[in-house]
Amino acid sequence: MTAQEQRVALVTGATSGIGLAVARLLACQHHQVFIGARTPESVTSTIKQLRADGLDVDGTPVDVRSTPDVKAYVAAAVARFGTIDVLVNNAGRSGGGVTADIEEDLWSDVIETNLNSVFRVTREVLNTGGMRNKKRGRIINIASTAGKQGVILGAPYSASKHGVVGFTKALGNELAPTGITVNAVCPGYVETPMAQRVRQGYAAAYDTTEDAILPKFQAKIPLGRYSTPEEVAGLVGYLTSDSAASITSQALNVCGGLGNF
Ligand SMILES: NC(=O)c1ccc[n+]([C@@H]2O[C@H](COP(=O)([O-])OP(=O)(O)OC[C@H]3O[C@@H](n4cnc5c(N)ncnc54)[C@H](OP(=O)(O)O)[C@@H]3O)[C@@H](O)[C@H]2O)c1
Repeated sequence: MTAQEQRVALVTGATSGIGLAVARLLACQHHQVFIGARTPESVTSTIKQLRADGLDVDGTPVDVRSTPDVKAYVAAAVARFGTIDVLVNNAGRSGGGVTADIEEDLWSDVIETNLNSVFRVTREVLNTGGMRNKKRGRIINIASTAGKQGVILGAPYSASKHGVVGFTKALGNELAPTGITVNAVCPGYVETPMAQRVRQGYAAAYDTTEDAILPKFQAKIPLGRYSTPEEVAGLVGYLTSDSAASITSQALNVCGGLGNF
């Protein structure tokens, strides 16, 4: 693929875990990748790290909960690399607890970060990012197996990810005639900083240790282990390919068999 044929990909939450693995893989697969996350130092160090490996990566800080931030972020991506061919909505947070005790602020922040952001960034990429005028596009939303089944002590998270799956199916059907595919990738347990925070949360809720929580979670996974960020990125990479042109409006698991629906 020549430089002129390179595609432009936007990846949110790309300074850690799954987003970082996705940004690296897409850059290795001849994309120019524009990353974003809230912490400016992490954005700078991630760009430096990926460029040191010869990858064509840039980015700016962005808080996906903020419409002005998202507008500036997408405009910066277009100014740097041109209109956007691939969007990966990955930024997200965990969050839950005993539902009767959940503060409204926590509920709202989980929905804002995980669900409203997906609509907000997608709309901006379709318009300012120019995707709606293209004959080919890829929108990939990182949902969760918690977007297909209820997770105990995870009502806000599960609700937000079910919302992402619903948004994906509706937009996928809407855009199908245009050549833009829209899919959700649903990881199960993936070893990342978020997974560590989740184990800490359950250890506190069940009054036990993180070391005791880990084997309990592993035992729920038929494969017997967490997935890796690179395994999730692999499906994202496939969905960006020409071979995946007929896959749209789907929610596909990468979960070691945790969910088989
Ligand atoms: N790990 C799992 O087991 C698992 C399972 C299923 C689904 N997922 C989903 O996969 C995605 C990535 O998770 P991960 O495990 O890789 O998490 P992670 O390691 O905690 O990374 C999260 C990334 O998102 C960024 N981020 C968080 N809030 C943001 C905001 N408001 N605006 C912009 N960026 C934001 C973080 O950077 P800053 O903090 O600097 O903003 C970071 O780059 C999430 O959507 C998560 O729900 C994860």
